[in-house]
Amino acid sequence: MCGIIGYTGKKNAVSIILEGLKRLEYRGYDSAGIAFFNESGVEIRKCTGKIKDLYAIIDSDKPFSTTAIGHTRWATHGKPSEENAHPHRSDGIIIVHNGIIENYLQLKKKLIDEGYKFTSETDTEVLCHLIEKYAADYPLEDAVRKALKEVRGAYALAVINEKERGKIVGVRKDSPLVVGLGDGEFFLASDVPAFLNYSRDVIFLDDGEMVVMTGDGVVVTTLDGAPVQKEVVSVSWSPAMAEKSGYKHFMLKEIYEQPRAIADTLRGRFYPESGQVNMDEFGIKEEDLRKAQKIFITACGTSWHAALIGKYMIEELARVPVEVDIASEFRYRNPVIGQDSLLVAITQSGETADTLAAQREAKRLGAKTLSICNVVGSTASREADAVFYTHSGPEIGVASTKAFTTQIVGLYLFAVGLGRLKGTVNADSAMGFLKDLLFLPGLVEKVIAADNVIERIAKELFKVNDFLYMGRGINYPIALEGALKLKEISYIHAEGYPSGEMKHGPIALVDEVLPSVFLVPKGRLYDKVLSNIEEVKSRGGRIIAVTDEGNKEVCSRSDYCISVPETNSFLSAILMAIPLQLLAYHIGVLRGCDVDQPRNLAKSVTVE
Ligand code: AGP
Repeated sequence: MCGIIGYTGKKNAVSIILEGLKRLEYRGYDSAGIAFFNESGVEIRKCTGKIKDLYAIIDSDKPFSTTAIGHTRWATHGKPSEENAHPHRSDGIIIVHNGIIENYLQLKKKLIDEGYKFTSETDTEVLCHLIEKYAADYPLEDAVRKALKEVRGAYALAVINEKERGKIVGVRKDSPLVVGLGDGEFFLASDVPAFLNYSRDVIFLDDGEMVVMTGDGVVVTTLDGAPVQKEVVSVSWSPAMAEKSGYKHFMLKEIYEQPRAIADTLRGRFYPESGQVNMDEFGIKEEDLRKAQKIFITACGTSWHAALIGKYMIEELARVPVEVDIASEFRYRNPVIGQDSLLVAITQSGETADTLAAQREAKRLGAKTLSICNVVGSTASREADAVFYTHSGPEIGVASTKAFTTQIVGLYLFAVGLGRLKGTVNADSAMGFLKDLLFLPGLVEKVIAADNVIERIAKELFKVNDFLYMGRGINYPIALEGALKLKEISYIHAEGYPSGEMKHGPIALVDEVLPSVFLVPKGRLYDKVLSNIEEVKSRGGRIIAVTDEGNKEVCSRSDYCISVPETNSFLSAILMAIPLQLLAYHIGVLRGCDVDQPRNLAKSVTVE
């Protein structure tokens, strides 16, 4: 996820762009850049680092311009570097982009054959050259239209042409883009905060719409050029609220972003119609995957819960033994790991000290290492032999939510792809597993839509001081995750358990106050969990059940019932996790906790 912004009007566009990028920094902060019209054409200044570093290279001579575009980057293709930073240029065409071009490799090859020279590793540069190719014969907006006909993927663009001073063209598809209307000045940005200090009159573009901005005003059309009448919305957010796109906390925003984060993580990585996974995205050679006799997965915290889920998926689908370790244990236990092993290190930040140490230890002992990571250019992603990026965008809230569910999506793709490679998953089954992925973002939307039900449950339980979370099979790690979310956000003591363990101790905790959260989707362990619910009920315990839509049998036995749509037994773990994220969030808010920055915690634990 990146932040883009454009301005054309009478004020100094350079300072407006810099200020706007500062307000978009939450969307990405590994590099930034600006392009502005000057007397001889268009100048670009860009750098790695944060917006303050860009300020530094602008402050030296404080250029003035009335039209400019800017970008703050969250790298998805190509490490954070000056050459990969946006804006990108192809002759007189300059572009900033938020999104992912799925078919950029094919387009890049074609453009190179046509003689174009590339200076970056990004997918965006492909777009720049494509538009330049058409700009020779068409006005900018038509050149953009023609270029986008060849492109598959997600984009929010701001494009300028040195030969068309004062004009900015914006387009959106699967990435947000809004237009700000001022008095003789116009703004284009990924999000409202970028220009909220100058205008509260906003046009929210929809997918497949283009805006052409000049000093005379804005014209919105479809990508085919048909005019579109857009409503102008007056937003009342404070700038602080606006950075959270109107959500009260980053954590809630990031929970709600999960459909988009999952869709972005999936984009270009699987082909349901053939039952194929694009295993190149994992970067491990096929012979190394075939050779791997054992897979180790290591991580910390929530990422360790994803690792446990990975075990269930990989062993069930690819029939390769998987050993899961908490990284701080793995690094000191002298593990039996070697050249016939693959170590997968899962880390949102890519900077967790224990996970880095575990990855280094595995590499030292001869194993191939794969990092599943959310931050391009992070230490883990650079030191591993290969990396699979979750494209969930920056996760600001300390509690990991969208990073967790996109880690599971990555592990699911890996398990299906490895199963195809090993011949343990046939094409028909793989097509079924991958087709289920197509529906996943929509199913996640449905779960989130029931947030009000979960908030009502939170209002009845937020004063309780102990919780038990129970699940079986792949939902046991989800029980652990639900307990961790609650304890780290609301400071309530909570424990996650395999529900088959109830009788071995935890059931002693059950009384008429203690809420027991059961994850009980349909499946081969359903009846077992149902009987565990009865064990708690018969001792007067309170039951919160998360189950499939319309499951009257479970809801009739529960004090509180949360329904989620049905999907396959692997992906149901994601749908089960989301109500637990929301339950922890609402209870934390009701208890007056700082849900984005809970006490004693840090977003990335870079020390032992
Ligand atoms: C999860 O909500 C916590 N923030 C924490 O457990 C986190 O998952 C853990 O510190 C690992 O972080 P990483 O994924 O960045 O390595």
